[in-house]
Amino acid sequence: MTDLFDGIERGGREPMGEGAALLRGFALAFEDEVLAGLDAVVAQAPFRHMVTPGGYTMSVAMTNCGAAGWVTDRSGYRYDANDPLTGRPWPEMPEAFRTLARAAAAEAGYPDFTPDACLINRYEPGARLSLHQDRNERDFANPIVSVSLGLPATFQFGGLQRSDPVRRYALRHGDVAVWGGPSRLAFHGVTALKEGMHPRLGRMRINLTFRGAL
Ligand code: SIN
Ligand code: FE2
Repeated sequence: MTDLFDGIERGGREPMGEGAALLRGFALAFEDEVLAGLDAVVAQAPFRHMVTPGGYTMSVAMTNCGAAGWVTDRSGYRYDANDPLTGRPWPEMPEAFRTLARAAAAEAGYPDFTPDACLINRYEPGARLSLHQDRNERDFANPIVSVSLGLPATFQFGGLQRSDPVRRYALRHGDVAVWGGPSRLAFHGVTALKEGMHPRLGRMRINLTFRGAL
C-alpha cells in the first residue's frame, strides 16, 4: 500500500467552503466492503434513468438504499420509502455504507450524522448532473456526504445562489466530499463524464450521497 494515488496524498483535506471539505481517498479503507454492498443493493433495486418533472430523462442512472430513496417523475421530486420500480421498500443500507458515511461526516466536523437515505448515481461517459441544490430533505441540519468511486469526474461546487461562481474539483475513486452548515444548500453539479476504464468499476463512475432525509 502506498500513501499516494494519482499523486494525491491519502488523508489530504481540501476546504471547499465554510462547513464543506473534500477528504481525499477517505473511502479507500472501506473499498471492498462498500463495493460488495453496492452489488447487493443493485441486485435488489437496479439502476434506472428517472424522468424530471419537466419530462427530461436524466443521463445519470439512479437507485437508492436506506429507509427512504430520492425519486423524480412527472409529479415532482420527493423521498419515497418504496422503490417505484418494484413496489417494495428500498434495500437496507449496507453496514459498510453507514460506517463510511458516519466516519467521513465526523472527520469533516459533523460527529452526530447518521444517514437514513443513500442515493446511488451511476455515470457512464457523457452523463452529467446540472447545477442543483439538495433540498428535498426535511432537516438541513444534517450534512451531505458524497462518495466517489470509479472513473474520475469534475465536480462543480458553488454558493447559495445559482449565479455564484463555482470552483471545480477533480473527484477520484475514494474521495469523499462533505458539505453542511453554511454550505448545506450550496449549488453543485458534475460535468460530462469523460471516457475511461477504471480497474475496479470499468467504464463508469458511481457516486453515493448520504443524507438525513426523514
Ligand atoms: C449529487 O449531487 O447527487 C451527486 C454528486 C456527484 O455525483 O458527485
Ligand atoms: Fe446533489
